[in-house]
Amino acid sequence: MFRSSFVRRCVAKEIAKPGAGSAVLTDKDRPFALVQREVETIKGHIQQLVVNRHNEVLDHAGSYALAAGGKLMRPALVALMAHALSPAELSQRWRTEPISSLDHLPQNSINPFLRLAEVTELIHTASLVHDDVIDNSDTRRGRLALHRVYDAKRAVLAGDYLLARASFYIATLQVPRVVILMTTALEELTAGELMQMDGCFDVDRYEQKSFCKTASLIANSLASAAVLADSGNEQLETTAFEFGKHLGIAFQIVDDCLDITGDEKDLGKPKLADMKEGIATLPVLLAARQDVRVDEAVRRRFTQEGDSEYCLSVVEKSGAVAEAMARADEHCKLGIEQLSTLRPSPARDSLENALALVLNRRA
Ligand code: FPP
Ligand code: MG
Repeated sequence: MFRSSFVRRCVAKEIAKPGAGSAVLTDKDRPFALVQREVETIKGHIQQLVVNRHNEVLDHAGSYALAAGGKLMRPALVALMAHALSPAELSQRWRTEPISSLDHLPQNSINPFLRLAEVTELIHTASLVHDDVIDNSDTRRGRLALHRVYDAKRAVLAGDYLLARASFYIATLQVPRVVILMTTALEELTAGELMQMDGCFDVDRYEQKSFCKTASLIANSLASAAVLADSGNEQLETTAFEFGKHLGIAFQIVDDCLDITGDEKDLGKPKLADMKEGIATLPVLLAARQDVRVDEAVRRRFTQEGDSEYCLSVVEKSGAVAEAMARADEHCKLGIEQLSTLRPSPARDSLENALALVLNRRA
């Protein structure tokens, strides 16, 4: 196995950092219990999708970025939607070896839903690798961020590599509509990150940003699951998309509220991090509607002495966190409305429970 001294140095740095490990879904995340087996399969297999026999940095960086795991919420949602729409498909045997060329594509041995779920996680992981470079973050999921293991240039290229692999595996599904949906998600992720970088100073812009940055990948991957289940059924595609959109936006709003009210131990990061980074969260934007000084602080991105403290005091007095949570709750209700158009099934119930989990999560 190749290992240049550069890669050896980086690997040594990585194992010197405690806390490496994965947080796969457990029984307490009950909405996902139904797809625990699929999630475990994905976890065991996804690394194989990024093996690179030609370049050791890509080989190691790809595996490093995926090894931490996270909760694999996005693949779990895709698997649940697949069960809800097309249960029989999921029990099909699916290929476990990486595919090196479209010429050798064994058509009948790939479970398309599980492949889609993996691709969704690859894209999410690529975006986090790039996000950590942009945010200059030291850690990700309890380990050194990839650009701290290597450097920013290599981390950007490693993120590109994950995207390249994701694009390849999207292509292997050979469903043009899925290519359109998933590449739209890529575009919107990028636009969302730029909107955040340039600043969101009002609630409308915030909602656009949250859709692009957080909800689009979930919405488009669930819509893709609907396409795989019943190609050409536009109604089903829209239902799955809208469910994912509302879940994703609710997820982002709760994230914003946790930045203010959450427990640092549960969160694994300092509170009020968003304001420190110049980012206005929904509670702060709601408070800005009532208080011109908060609005001014938002627009100068909390750069003046005392801005954050003042905004926090207005958020606390004005009940803006409760108002934001009520909006998250509204999105969850809209998500449930979408589900009501699907036939009853344990998977549909689990998708509904996933909305409740998003709303009640502490980290
Ligand atoms: C986490 O944000 C970041 C994202 C959800 C998306 C980041 C998107 C890009 C960097 C655009 C490039 C896209 C691709 C597909 C490569 P955060 O900083 O709010 O959360 P954190 O606390 O987890 O870092
Ligand atoms: Mg970040």
